[in-house]
Amino acid sequence: MRAAHDTGTEMLRCSLDDGVATVIFDNPDKRNALSGEIRRALPDLLRWLDEVSEVRVVVITGAGEQAFMSGADISEFGDQRTSPEARATYDEAFDEIDRAWAALTKPIIARIRGYCLGAGLVTALRADIRIAADDAAFAVPAARLGLGLRFANVEPLVGLIGGAHASEMLFTARRFVAAEALAMGLVNRVVPVADLDAAVGDLARSIADNAPLTVAASKAAIDAARRSPVDRDLATVEALVEAAFRSEDYLEGQAAFADKRSPRFQGR
Ligand code: COA
Repeated sequence: MRAAHDTGTEMLRCSLDDGVATVIFDNPDKRNALSGEIRRALPDLLRWLDEVSEVRVVVITGAGEQAFMSGADISEFGDQRTSPEARATYDEAFDEIDRAWAALTKPIIARIRGYCLGAGLVTALRADIRIAADDAAFAVPAARLGLGLRFANVEPLVGLIGGAHASEMLFTARRFVAAEALAMGLVNRVVPVADLDAAVGDLARSIADNAPLTVAASKAAIDAARRSPVDRDLATVEALVEAAFRSEDYLEGQAAFADKRSPRFQGR
């Protein structure tokens, strides 16, 4: 049964349906730009998604047909992102969002239609898996605006698509169509617009039905593998692997295999 979660703002909507949480960036007047209102509500929502055991997988998407997210709200830049003092406050809000994304242990899927620009692309990079419709368009327009891109925003892009593709995206600021994004490894899959909901729904369902402790251990291991050896938290990965082996779900997985039926995992 679908239940709504109140995020405190209509610009950030969240619902939970049979283990699948859907987060919607909803700022229709600005092509789902990441407004201050969304930025303030996002960390609490991400913490809630992590804490609630019923949430097995998180889908993030933009409202409507035009955009996943058009980037940071440019109309705020004059007041909030110009003087060094204002920028420090602005950047701290983004840092808090980054920390909350990094602390979210559940698998995240980005469902991308239309424009996925700037901070929208950075947000999509917080997902573990990106599924794009064939109308999706990707860009980092910073060089057209003259603003400085921080390392925290560049690093995930380079990690995913490599320095040469990141250079072309950042230096030209041009738009890349979905097929180019796929070729660069920016998205996992491109599907026709009409198939997007089914593709994302099937993917989310298949993950939500799997053993949550195994998925969490894999997510932690993947995160560790992306880091340099000195920054890897392998103790946490080991603890999660051990928790999976000691879980009731491990016994259920074996029993379901023996009974030739689908497993019913509890996450414990
Ligand atoms: N911040 C604030 N407002 C934005 C916005 C953003 N990131 N993106 C779009 N908007 C607003 C526009 O100002 C416009 O407002 P208006 O109706 O009051 O004039 C409205 O959303 C619709 O945008 P418009 O440009 O008319 O629509 P479009 O379909 O022709 O183009 C975009 C859509 C997203 C390609 C275009 O708006 C754009 O390039 N936006 C800026 C993207 C950007 O540079 N992001 C990086 C920020 S660091």
